[in-house]
This record gives sequence, C-alpha cells and structure tokens, in this order.
Amino acid sequence: MKSLKNTLIKNKNIIFRADLNVPVIEGKISDYSRINAIIPSINQLTNNKNKVFIVAHFGRPKGKVDKKYSLQFLCKELAIIFRQKKIHFIETFESEIISNKISEMQNGEICLFENIRFNPEEESNDINFSKQITKHFDYFINDAFSASHRSHASIVGFSNFIPAVSGLSFINEINNLEKFLNKVKKPNLAIIGGSKISTKIKVIYNLLDLFDTIVIGGAMANTFLLSNNFKVGKSLVEHDYVYVAKDILKKAKNTNCEILLPVDFVCAASINDQKNTKTCDVNNIEDNDMILDVGIETTNLISKKIAESQSVLWNGPLGAFEYKPFDKSSIKIANVIEKYSNQFNIETIAGGGDTISVINLAGASSGFNYLSNAGGAFLEWLEGNKSPGVIALQKKDK
Ligand code: 3PG
Repeated sequence: MKSLKNTLIKNKNIIFRADLNVPVIEGKISDYSRINAIIPSINQLTNNKNKVFIVAHFGRPKGKVDKKYSLQFLCKELAIIFRQKKIHFIETFESEIISNKISEMQNGEICLFENIRFNPEEESNDINFSKQITKHFDYFINDAFSASHRSHASIVGFSNFIPAVSGLSFINEINNLEKFLNKVKKPNLAIIGGSKISTKIKVIYNLLDLFDTIVIGGAMANTFLLSNNFKVGKSLVEHDYVYVAKDILKKAKNTNCEILLPVDFVCAASINDQKNTKTCDVNNIEDNDMILDVGIETTNLISKKIAESQSVLWNGPLGAFEYKPFDKSSIKIANVIEKYSNQFNIETIAGGGDTISVINLAGASSGFNYLSNAGGAFLEWLEGNKSPGVIALQKKDK
C-alpha cells in the first residue's frame, strides 16, 4: 500500500480524509487524539506546498443537513493546531465552489469541508459523487483508519478516480494492530465495554477463540445479566439480544474462555441523578435502579485478572464515564493497567474514542503499548475483517 512515508507529493491539490468525529462534551472537545493523529500527515503536505482539503464526518446526520453536526466549529481549533492564519471552509461539494476555493487558496493552506454525511451520496457510496469531487484533485489521502470500516464514498469511492495514498496515522494504526494480534501472549485478557452488545457481537464471538478471559462491562453487561435471569431495573438493555448473550456464554464454556461479568454496580434513579448514587450487589437491583457503572468489587476482580495476564486488550468504558462519578471504575482500570503493564511487562492495547478519552482522563497513556483511535474499525480488525478502506488502498497497488 502506498503511504505518505514513501511518497513525495509537492504543489498539488489534495483531498484528505480525516476522522474528525471527536468527542464533544458541553460544546468542548474532550479529547484531541483524533486531531493529533493527522498532524504529521497534514504538516508534511502543507510543508510541501500542497493545498489540502480535509473531508470528514461528524456524528450520524443520515444524509441531511443538520447544523447540530456541523464541522465548522473546528476551524478555529485547526488553525491553531496547524499554525495557519485561517482554515478555509466550504459548505457543499459543488464543483464550482470547489474550483473557486482552489483558485483562492495559496499553496500550503488548508480548507475544511462541511460534514460529508450531510450528503446522502456519501453513505450510499455514489460513484458520480466521488467522480465529481475527485476531478478537482491530484491525490486522495486516507488518514482515517478509524472510519475505514465504512464503505462510503470518501473512504472507498474516491480512490477509484485518482492516485490514492494512505496517511501516516493510517499506516501506523495497521502496523500496530497487526503487531499486537500476531503476538498475543498468554494468559490474555480482553476487556469489552460500551453500551451495545448488538455492535460488538461478532467481535466477542471472535475473541472467544483468542482470549482466556473476557470481561464484559458497560451497559452491554446488563443484557448478559438479564440472560442469566438477574434483575436489571431501569438499566439500558437490548432485549432482542438476550438470546445472543446466552449463546455467547454457552460458546465460551466450549472454548474454555472465562466470561467475567460484573458482580456489583453503582446505580442511580437516572443518569442525571449524579448526586444520589448507591452501590448494588448483582442480586439486589431494584425496579427503580439504573446501572451506571461497575462497583468496587468488580473493579478489584478485573484488576486481579490484569495482574495475572501477559497481554491485555481494552475496548469500551465500563460505565457511563461522561457523567461523573460514573467514570470511576474506568479510570481505576486505566490506572491499574498502567501500573501493572510497567511492573509486569504486560503487552497492552486499547482502542475506541471513549476508551482513549478515559485513558487520557486518567493520565494513564504511558501504560499502553498502543492506543488506537479506531472504535468500530478496531473491532472489525479484531473480527478478522480487512476494512473496505484498507482494501481500496491496496487495490491501487495492483
Ligand atoms: C468512529 O467514531 O468510530 C468513526 O468515526 C466512525 O463513525 P461511525 O461509527 O459513525 O461510522
């Protein structure tokens, strides 16, 4: 796969796919990892006097303009980060507007496109849409590994029409994920959290063969508890997936994989009731309780497992970490991984925007061999699938 590492591009017009789907809490970016990831590629391109047009998505506006998902707020931030007087911004992908902007811009300047998912053609991977956009550019650079599991126009479509090259962060992600998976030392542990079992089923099935122990945390654990006939009160559950949880537990027995489910929780009447929390044992969750984090006993069990492991993989927070104090267990686990990985030389990898946010909040990043910005793409990689974005770039080599 061609990469910016070994491709010199100068004085050209570049269309650059970034993943700027950054976490925002109360109007502020809470974690800059995805922006930081594109700095090396963007700097290389602007230093070489290219005009760089960044394409990205933000949220899931479903093909409609919805200002709530506008990317315009990033212009100021990007101008500071990339030391530009300003970041140009264009709201549509209309040909005339793109060519006018190219004429207006100086070499080495950057333009940000409005959220590409405002256009239905992005998700349907409309070939004409890709053709019309790319005709203005000399190169397509994909530096959004974390979005490369989507078969969208800006991930797979653009590369049909112009030379396509992977960005520095893209190639770094692939190399590090492969390195970890190729030498998963045993005994090993996977910690899988987050809210939905439906988005992680395939990966959990795949991990059953690879890992000795899998911790299930986050709201996803509630569905597993329900499948074991525990009460979960008002907690988030996916009723349609109870049978899947049952099946995973059964398969785990066959593959000798231990599934560690939470045994105690921090509950409240609602996610906004952050002041009136209580600790509940798995046997005494009441009808009015909402599970919002795992409790101390569970955190201790997970910590013990980490200490006994040779490699640890983490994807998905254990509680509703955006709402204090429901971030406690995730922060504790980040710190425990940091401490033990250094002490016992454990191989560690974590992936997903929320997981990286938690690790950064805990100041624990030095405890990880690699932090991947990818969430869904990270999981699909673990499932053994090559991302469509990776395949599209590899095709160009043939
Ligand atoms: C992510 O946040 O994992 C990527 O930006 C992809 O976003 P999506 O799941 O909305 O496609």
